[in-house]
Amino acid sequence: MKNYVFGAVSAVALMSANVVVAEPKAEVLHWWTSGGEARSVAVLQQEFADNGGTWTDMPVAGGGGDAAMSALRARVLAGNAPTAVQLKGPAIQEWYEEGVLADISAVAEAEGWADVLPASIAGHMQCEGSWCAAPVNVHRVDWIWANADVLEANGIAMPTTWDEFNAAAEKLQGAGIIPLAHGGQAWQDATVFEAVALGILGADGFRKAFVELDEATLTSDAMKSVFDQMRTLRGFVDPNFPGRDWNLATAMVMNGEAAFQIMGDWAKGEFLAAGKAPGEDFLCASVPGEGFLYNVDSFAMFDVDGEDNQAGQALLAKLIVGQSFQKVFNLNKGSIPARVDVALDEFDSCAHLSAEDMAASSEGGSLLPSYAHGMALRGAQSGAITDVVTSHFNSDMSSDEAVQQLATAIANSL
Ligand code: GAL
Repeated sequence: MKNYVFGAVSAVALMSANVVVAEPKAEVLHWWTSGGEARSVAVLQQEFADNGGTWTDMPVAGGGGDAAMSALRARVLAGNAPTAVQLKGPAIQEWYEEGVLADISAVAEAEGWADVLPASIAGHMQCEGSWCAAPVNVHRVDWIWANADVLEANGIAMPTTWDEFNAAAEKLQGAGIIPLAHGGQAWQDATVFEAVALGILGADGFRKAFVELDEATLTSDAMKSVFDQMRTLRGFVDPNFPGRDWNLATAMVMNGEAAFQIMGDWAKGEFLAAGKAPGEDFLCASVPGEGFLYNVDSFAMFDVDGEDNQAGQALLAKLIVGQSFQKVFNLNKGSIPARVDVALDEFDSCAHLSAEDMAASSEGGSLLPSYAHGMALRGAQSGAITDVVTSHFNSDMSSDEAVQQLATAIANSL
């Protein structure tokens, strides 16, 4: 028997096992398969093993997690749910309502999660008052990444307005450089779209559109401008963009084939995994405009039999929110810790900017959940928006037509 001395784990295991303390086991479903992501999840695997756990990996490739979520549904329908699942935002509550999640309140209370997690994050982890998920990080979605040498060689500064971005992109195009590295997958189109929308609609407009689903905002002139900018961006991507994975787009920025990528800070995890340094090899800046779009990764535990599995769930939950894991994992992942009491001195300038902007936007009311990464809306509504965004991006649909389709799609999804 492995030796582990965790209050919550041993309490749970002992209570149910009477004599024998169960050895923690977990089958973990996640979609962290790119270079930076794999390095990050390895931190959790290692800590789990160091604490006597046996990890069975169930990676399902596919950025943004759509494929992982399909795999999850199939497993749950077959009555064979994984022990722990990368799950986030309102999807946590949707699964809770299906009656298939385990209650991890015993660990959360023993570990004092309520004291170390901001209320905005804790709210996503709770289901009718009990704790049903454990947060690992805060990713920011509204970033522009750039190749530092390419910008310098072309006399371009990091853009602070969309007009500046467009002017820089035209100049780069003239110099034979792909202005925008993009992967044509629906979730990536949605990621770019919401970053553009935040800049153009402003924080209040973003909230009205993508949290409150306000029809007037969805069909407003400002929303038409968002689609206009998407059309402009479409002109800045290379012809091979359809289907490209996000990390391959990041690689295009790394190797200077492309100048910019609009993507969450998991892209920074890729730069770092390739040994690139922020401020030297690559630059980060928030997209033009106010606000902060957050995307909190978390794990939910599914209701499974077996003391070893339950001990594994308790151990995982405890480790995930633990101070040391939150630091090391997020140094690799490109995100910042979900806990408020992790020192950031080993983190880079992009992470510091993220933490400062998150605090300021929380204060100023412009801290907003990412719709594209499943933090703002239930699946039916976010899916309805993304369908319109991606069909606009991949056709010659006008902005007028796009906003009308948006309103209809939302109305039909409610
Ligand atoms: C996001 C997820 C990130 C990252 C990204 C690309 O939805 O929150 O952790 O993995 O997808 O796969």
